[in-house]
Amino acid sequence: MAYRQTSPMVSFRPTTADDFLVIERFARLASSNPGHYSERWGRMGDFGVIAESSGQPVGAAWARLFAWSDIRDPLGSPQFPELAIAVDSAFRGCGVGTTLLRELLVAAGRLGYAAVDLLVERSNFAAIAVYTKLGFKRVGGDARLWMRAAVGAGGSFQES
Ligand SMILES: CC(C)(COP(=O)(O)OP(=O)(O)OC[C@H]1O[C@@H](n2cnc3c(N)ncnc32)[C@H](O)[C@@H]1OP(=O)(O)O)[C@@H](O)C(=O)NCCC(=O)NCCS
Repeated sequence: MAYRQTSPMVSFRPTTADDFLVIERFARLASSNPGHYSERWGRMGDFGVIAESSGQPVGAAWARLFAWSDIRDPLGSPQFPELAIAVDSAFRGCGVGTTLLRELLVAAGRLGYAAVDLLVERSNFAAIAVYTKLGFKRVGGDARLWMRAAVGAGGSFQES
């Protein structure tokens, strides 16, 4: 994926195996269980997108595959990567999260995945707004929702 710039302030690039510290930082923002999303970053199947401003990471969306034993919901699957996303508070509300997620879904389709999953607190309205906009639907859960977006071959997906 080429390095792109979608606004004067923020540009987007794919993650690399060297991005452990970046992923670790955003995993702490994204989840009360950050290790699930960051431990051994760069293992087979890890992929993601980083948003940068003035050369500094300001957000990230990434996804990884889990074995049955590590999947956090019975509706999960080792065939569908689970994603995490976070944006620094100063950069929220101006489309960075939406662009990160859109780019991640395109990457997932290009990698041949049929769907991407996630776990989100029902009270996380901002995250759910972004997820729903980009086609995620609740497939289970109550206080914490398990959501899934279908991803088409080549990176197409259904935005709401
Ligand atoms: C979720 C998160 C990544 C979104 O990033 P962002 O850059 O602010 O996202 P965007 O600006 O693209 O979009 C935010 C959307 O949320 C909506 N939103 C914000 N607060 C909201 C609220 N309280 N209720 C409903 N919608 C809300 C905005 O209206 C916007 O939707 P719109 O573009 O249709 O107007 C960011 O809030 C974040 O990092 N949160 C902390 C980490 C986190 O919770 N990660 C998800 C864990 S599952």
